[in-house]
Amino acid sequence: MNKLNSKKILLIICGGIAAYKSLEIIRIFKKKGALVKTIMTKSAKKFVTPLSVTSLSQEKVYSELFDYNNEAEMDHISLSRWADIILIAPATANTISKLSYGLSDDLASTVVLASNKPIFIAPAMNVRMWEHPANKENLYKLKNFGYQIIGPDIGDMACGEYGEGKMTEPDNIVNYLNHYFKKIINNKKFKALVTAGPTHEYIDPVRFISNKSSGKQGYEIAKSLKKNGIETTLISGPTILDPIPGVNLIKVKSAKEMFNETLKNLPADIAIFSAAVADWKVKNVEKNKIKKKDKLNLNLEKNIDILKHISNHNSLRPKIVIGFAAETNNLANNSKKKLLEKNCDWLISNDVSDPKIGFNSDYNEVTIFYKNKNQEKISKIKKSLLADKIVERVISQLN
Ligand code: PMT
Repeated sequence: MNKLNSKKILLIICGGIAAYKSLEIIRIFKKKGALVKTIMTKSAKKFVTPLSVTSLSQEKVYSELFDYNNEAEMDHISLSRWADIILIAPATANTISKLSYGLSDDLASTVVLASNKPIFIAPAMNVRMWEHPANKENLYKLKNFGYQIIGPDIGDMACGEYGEGKMTEPDNIVNYLNHYFKKIINNKKFKALVTAGPTHEYIDPVRFISNKSSGKQGYEIAKSLKKNGIETTLISGPTILDPIPGVNLIKVKSAKEMFNETLKNLPADIAIFSAAVADWKVKNVEKNKIKKKDKLNLNLEKNIDILKHISNHNSLRPKIVIGFAAETNNLANNSKKKLLEKNCDWLISNDVSDPKIGFNSDYNEVTIFYKNKNQEKISKIKKSLLADKIVERVISQLN
């Protein structure tokens, strides 16, 4: 089914022999009713002419970063805001490298850096360039930025060699994007709630009990849900992280506030509790700063268990409830126990005794314990990529 009708595609054409295939990409997009604006890099123009691109897209070709006519008409920011998605096809090793470093020395790289839209990259290069560790590292960075890589294919190359690096055929690129829009439209009907970060349980106006959670894992999960078209609310304890465009962010401090906001933002189809909620709170919070003394006894009481409350709620329980478990020892046994005690559908367990993963790190290593007793280990991976894997599994279960 055609989901490309009226979609706004910004196509960036880089300088490689596969550039001639971008003409076919434009032709298919137009046939499917998409609106196509194009940016050509300086070297792209050595392979295809702007006139051919303009004739097919029925739009002017953008090329110059500092073009007074463009600035008046459509600057680099407006171009990226106009688009529903950005497709870079062909994406050369040079452009991939520039994007991985966040360079912005021409219109194409500046538009990508300034973009808040999904970015798709269809690489095309010689097999040795494709296999070079530098290129692999650059692509790994781009995947981490959330860019989606289409292909490349294996086959005979224009240079006479054979191997991986051929740009994916135009039909397949367009089908990939059609499938993407289909997925986004389908997922729009789902609602998700994510908790993230620590909570602060105040002792007096200036001191609190908390933990080392940075919120990174929960924010990455919310980002990935949003990227997949799911309406997402993120209830976050105190963190230094930036809000995620398009995600409904609710900032809280204490477990009690997190609980209240969770209730207010249900029902949802899916709830992911990645927050490191403080287990205890101070029974009587002092109104004024407590004066320094040799000893201080705190009267603590248990905080409400948000996850347990929701997963046992008759009417508010989402279809999928996922808990996290921060463990320092006996990970498997503790997690299996927690899965049952908290009545969740999956429990994602991480070992927080290793400073290289878990709390505050950009990496995590987890085992997912499923209600049906299956379990799945995901070895050390960037939190953003782990989030994508979790969300991919969530979507397949929701469907
Ligand atoms: O924030 P980062 O720096 O990125 O680190 C990520 C993380 C390590 C915090 C995250 O991956 C993680 O493990 N989060 C859960 C930490 C935790 O509190 O684990 P727990 O075993 O104490 O709690 C189990 C589950 O119950 C969690 O889903 C927790 O959100 C929930 N819970 C706990 C207590 C409580 N009062 N209410 C809750 O909802």
